[in-house]
Amino acid sequence: MADHQTPSTLESRLSEERVFEPPASFVSQANMTDASVYERFDRNYPAAFAEYAELLVWDREWDKVLDDSNPPFYRWFVGGRLNASVNCVDRHLESRGDRIAYHWVGEIGDERTLTYRELHRQVNEWAAMLRGLGVRENDVVTIHLPMVPELPIAMLACARIGAPHSVVFGGFSAHALSSRIDDAKSRFLVTIDGYYRRGQMLDHKKKGDEAIERADTDVEAVVVVTRNEEPAETLELVPGRDWLAKDLLEKHAGATVEPVSREASDILFLMYTSGTTGQPKGVQHSTGGYLAYATATSKWVLDIKPDDVYWCMADIGWITGHSYIVYGPLSLGTTSILFEGAPDWPSKDIVWKIAREKGVKLFHTSPTAIRMFMKWGPEPVEKQANDFRLMVTVGEPIQPRAWKWYYDHVGHGDAVIVDTWWQTETGGHVIVGLPALRNMRPGHAGRPLPGIDARIVDDEGNEVPQGSNKAGNLVLCRPWPGMLQTLYGADARFIEEYWARFSDTSSKDWKDWRYRTGDGAYQVHGDFRIMGRLDDVINVAGHRLGTMELESACQTVEEVAEAAVAVKRDEQKGHVPEVYAILKEGASRDGIEAKIVRAIEEEIGKFARPSRVHIVDDLPKTRSGKIMRRLLQNISNDEALGDTTTLRDPTVPVTIREQIAREPAKTREEVATEASDIELP
Ligand code: WT7
Repeated sequence: MADHQTPSTLESRLSEERVFEPPASFVSQANMTDASVYERFDRNYPAAFAEYAELLVWDREWDKVLDDSNPPFYRWFVGGRLNASVNCVDRHLESRGDRIAYHWVGEIGDERTLTYRELHRQVNEWAAMLRGLGVRENDVVTIHLPMVPELPIAMLACARIGAPHSVVFGGFSAHALSSRIDDAKSRFLVTIDGYYRRGQMLDHKKKGDEAIERADTDVEAVVVVTRNEEPAETLELVPGRDWLAKDLLEKHAGATVEPVSREASDILFLMYTSGTTGQPKGVQHSTGGYLAYATATSKWVLDIKPDDVYWCMADIGWITGHSYIVYGPLSLGTTSILFEGAPDWPSKDIVWKIAREKGVKLFHTSPTAIRMFMKWGPEPVEKQANDFRLMVTVGEPIQPRAWKWYYDHVGHGDAVIVDTWWQTETGGHVIVGLPALRNMRPGHAGRPLPGIDARIVDDEGNEVPQGSNKAGNLVLCRPWPGMLQTLYGADARFIEEYWARFSDTSSKDWKDWRYRTGDGAYQVHGDFRIMGRLDDVINVAGHRLGTMELESACQTVEEVAEAAVAVKRDEQKGHVPEVYAILKEGASRDGIEAKIVRAIEEEIGKFARPSRVHIVDDLPKTRSGKIMRRLLQNISNDEALGDTTTLRDPTVPVTIREQIAREPAKTREEVATEASDIELP
């Protein structure tokens, strides 16, 4: 959704903004300090990307860096063969087997430490267990786990046997899980009995049971991890279908599984994400291109060194966790923190305390978390003296004020900040200044990475010239190794969603194809400032949601005749959805707001809850009957109404606004209290 900033207001703000240089102490030790890298990749595109592939170990070297014979279905490092689990685990055994891969910190004060050797043992046992249950190469395994060590272990075990994983964020509901199982025709599910949130054990397995019941796909086997030594009292197993991981693993104790050698363009995983329709999209990532890209960007952008301790506070259930908690950092052999808990439990300094105790040097989080820390004031962070070398922000545009707070209070003015723009689809960072080579401009993601060709085009596809101070659609004009291969089983939709609008789809020349990011952007001195989504995708506290998904969820409430979702700006979460609904003739209004909220929780998950539900008599519609969400947006954000001339009845938005002004503030508070849990992206 476009942030309603106009270039002229941006410009006046920009003139007040300072540019920050990376400290000399950072530059002198950085992984990437060669200023000619940009020029080298441009001159030598696409061959230069071999530098990324060379960071991996291959069973067989690639014949060709890029096969572009059938755009937009590009194949990277063709002919090469490799295994991702070997790259993330086995290759470190000899030189650094005793190095810690993960420090896991549980919510109730329990901790587990996994060395690379221990990780290797468990990944092998898991791989043997999955095989034993009938998982074969190319079978999709759905993993619905919270932040427990078994999550990366299960992913790597899948990678070892060539079974693509489809990790579904633990906060997704049974319904959401079930539609992802069906789309991937996934016959295997990994879940857990429960996990902790603010000291409470939550029943998680029941979501899996309900999802399987709803799904059309026949789920053959369910592996159930146990959060504690003993299974939770609530746990029920379906005989012949459900297996306790710990029972099966005992049988496979000490097993080793020969890693399956995968072709570079074989699928490593699927990650479902929201688009402009209600149906989630199965973003498909390759083994070779993706892993090379995640590894290289972890090295050059995040400046990860094998001896670092690094903490990315995202959830592995989203792409950030896949690339920058699992594949990139492990491929580089570093130590990461895994954190089960909420950032304010048991105290507001828990994050900084863990970071200090574990010696974290690289810290990675989102603007929404930074705004939350800001709200708590500098005391919790300053109490725990940390010394970060580099700090990352990802997920949404960061306001210069939040950037500055992060810089001053978390980084003490001497840590580098990298604002990393990318998407589930891009596999890894795309627009971000290489930290030792670029100055930092708060609020700007920076310059495209080497080899990336990012441009801004108007709605007709004409390029907006650099320096013209105009905003437009952000497009990527060259293939890159981390890019999605397609949408799983939906090639036509892949072209439709990402390419058709700004490409010549009849061309066989990649130069005629431009990838549509869906974001609006603006360029200043070659640095990109991202303005946010231009399509019907919204970003709530770093979680990506489709307005259509939310609206279809509202439609499941019997009394609802029609619903529209507007996006309201929110100081904490960035954006929050607000629902406007019309009820059917004669339907009861009793408790209807709560019903709608519950439907959204059920269809998507608690993290998608709207901040407010408005029951209205009519929705603003054009003469052809299209709902004008833009006007609802104006109402939600207390803005002047935009153009209403195309409305069938121009009085409708005015009436809605008056009605809302009369609504008791309580409605908002009631819904908001429930929605206040902090779930990190
Ligand atoms: C959308 C992608 C990238 C991993 C997490 C989100 C927004 C992401 C930034 C940033 C401004 C950003 C964009 C993008 N976004 N990073 N640094 N500055 N906006 O992945 O769920 O696929 O969402 O997040 O709007 O399109 P995702």
